[in-house]
Amino acid sequence: MNTYSRQPIGFTHGNGVWLWSTEGKKYLDGLAGIAVNTLGHNHPRLVKAICEQAGQLIHTSNLYEVPLQQKLAQRLCKLSGLQEAFFCNSGAEANEAAIKLARRFGHLNGEPNAKILVMERAWHGRTIATLAATDSPKAKEGFGSLPSGFVRVPYNDWDAIQAAQSEHPEIKAILLEVLQGEGGIHVAETEYLHQIRALSNTKNWLMMIDEVQSGIARTGQWFGFQHAKIIPDVITLAKGLGSGVPIAACLAGGKAYQVLTPGSHGTTFGGGPLVCTAALATLDAIEQENLLVHALEMGDLIKKILTTRLQPIQNQITIRGIGLMLGIQLPVACAELVTLARERGYLINVTREKVVRLLPPLIINTNEASDLAETVAALILEFMQKRSSTS
Ligand SMILES: Cc1ncc(COP(=O)(O)O)c(C=O)c1O
Repeated sequence: MNTYSRQPIGFTHGNGVWLWSTEGKKYLDGLAGIAVNTLGHNHPRLVKAICEQAGQLIHTSNLYEVPLQQKLAQRLCKLSGLQEAFFCNSGAEANEAAIKLARRFGHLNGEPNAKILVMERAWHGRTIATLAATDSPKAKEGFGSLPSGFVRVPYNDWDAIQAAQSEHPEIKAILLEVLQGEGGIHVAETEYLHQIRALSNTKNWLMMIDEVQSGIARTGQWFGFQHAKIIPDVITLAKGLGSGVPIAACLAGGKAYQVLTPGSHGTTFGGGPLVCTAALATLDAIEQENLLVHALEMGDLIKKILTTRLQPIQNQITIRGIGLMLGIQLPVACAELVTLARERGYLINVTREKVVRLLPPLIINTNEASDLAETVAALILEFMQKRSSTS
């Protein structure tokens, strides 16, 4: 189906942060498959692990125990401080699981019509329920009435949450991104997250964090919420978890633990041996290559270069983000920067029309990060100069 406005380019192979097009041209991948290729392309550890596992066992179903799934669940619980994991195949499905968990939590706690507090500019997926939680009129257009049960408030606005909680006693959970990705790279304030954690405790709400884009070391912590030193009740993961192999997870702990029970949720493909191997290899590589620290360092380097080079237009732009989840907000729509960058051999993205987004693989090295930042800064300057000379 014609569901994507694809750019006129395809790729045959990659290595590290580099991709080669069908026409043999080399590109620096500043987007990593939209925050997916954690380890870049053709990472030897990942490739070896997948090839070996494919020769052993690919799929058996969730009718049986899946030892590699258990191993991955234990690893993720240890890293996050949560207690159990449900595996599925995409970010939307992980959030569907979280939404179902919140509703069931309401049901078990005397609220059969539990509502979930969600945020302006949120992105949680494109299934019917996650679309309802998402704040994008464009993505919702033409899909009729979506499931009810969501109350929306502005992001980073504590007063709005307090107003909503007294107006909607049916609220039983809050779902938010600690770093809004599709929404334009907005970072939740630490105090705001602490306030939400405290309120969720007193109101008996589930604090649910969508880490689909920000999770798995992208921000220099295993999960974005760890910057605020809190532990949510539910988190969702996808994108970077399998470094390109589709695997997603919904983790639960605290009062969300064991809300979903045998028969209450499930999926055929979720957490099979092959995809769990990819996720375990990704976690191993992050640990052994020290990618948490590295992502922060490379992010700081990119930010520093951008800040210096974009000084002439500093009043017109904002640079946001943590680690390798970065955005540069321009005052005008700038989608054409994607084409201009591609013509020079760089893959970048623009979200919310005005935000240049950089999500390179976490293995990007100093030279590559500098090269990406210098080029993006130069392109933005040229673009803004051209605009001011024509207007
Ligand atoms: C924060 C967040 N949640 C959920 C999703 C949906 O993930 P998927 O496209 O894998 O369904 C995305 C996708 O961009 C996302 O950024």
